[in-house]
Amino acid sequence: MKKEKWLISGFADEPIDANIDLKKAINDLKKEKNAVIMAHYYQVGEIQDIADYVGDSLALAQWAAKTEADIIVLCGVHFMGETAKILSPNKKVLVPDLNAGCSLADSCPADKFAQYVKEHPGHTVISYVNTTAAVKAVTDVVVTSTNAKQIVDSFPKDEKIIFGPDRNLGNYINSITNRNMLLWDGACHVHEQFSVEKIVELKAKYPNAAVLAHPECKSTILVLADYVGSTAALLKYSANSDKDTFIVATESGILHEMQKKSPQKTFIPAPPNDSTCACNECNFMRLNTMEKLYNCLKYEFPEIEVDPEIAKEAVKPIKKMLEISEELGL
Ligand code: 13P
Ligand code: SF4
Repeated sequence: MKKEKWLISGFADEPIDANIDLKKAINDLKKEKNAVIMAHYYQVGEIQDIADYVGDSLALAQWAAKTEADIIVLCGVHFMGETAKILSPNKKVLVPDLNAGCSLADSCPADKFAQYVKEHPGHTVISYVNTTAAVKAVTDVVVTSTNAKQIVDSFPKDEKIIFGPDRNLGNYINSITNRNMLLWDGACHVHEQFSVEKIVELKAKYPNAAVLAHPECKSTILVLADYVGSTAALLKYSANSDKDTFIVATESGILHEMQKKSPQKTFIPAPPNDSTCACNECNFMRLNTMEKLYNCLKYEFPEIEVDPEIAKEAVKPIKKMLEISEELGL
């Protein structure tokens, strides 16, 4: 039983010398092994601070495609590691805890999605990056929340499109592009949790605050937002805005970088429906810790592997996304 857990999640429980300076040890290993650490904005603050690159899922894919390091440590969730591996198949891609999954990716099993695509011939398939490699393998073009609108806009208005798996992002993109894409019925358990009632209360308490929301939130939250965007877009907006207070409806890890960029401003995490739990924190993202990051660099484990046959197909829509993004200057 113990061995099984070890095999799945990596050296998560491997004891670490209590006297070790983790930051120094991680930096030393990184140099010694020509490794690069990439972290998503939803990682704990200390992982974001030690990373070479911190960004949203588009930036992580762009960096992974370009890096000259031998090892990529992707401090994020499994699909982000898979995307990096597909783009850089000859590099070793590590994720500190392989149990770091994604409820949105899980809401779209590849066999069922492939069946849905088959049942709707003549449709272009656009998939959010929060999907497994097997879903990407039956996709025409991948998008992230940073480029979804522009990529959808790049198709003719009468193009028949299947958009998966996030119904909230899909509904939002339908509304801002005036389309009627067929939507897969998936969602993220973190972004579905935000409470309309509590955000309305916060708006009354801080009347000058701007509400920022990620498009994975339900439409009832998005209508309350002053600005809707990807994690990188929300960060940029908060740094450039004249406002000094923000109510932030996305995973609360982003507040770390927001506060770093604008130390004089106030950031309030939007509360979830159930105040007894911290469900505006992604339990998957939070599985990665400094200790696991150290162990994964030390043992070069756990490593992301993608079936080469699947990778051969999945790389096409990911590269297409990167090409369109480059053309658009994203
Ligand atoms: P971004 O593309 O904005 O980084 O979002 C990733 C994600 O997992 C949102 O839940
Ligand atoms: Fe997936 Fe939601 Fe976590 Fe993002 S916040 S990684 S969509 S479960």
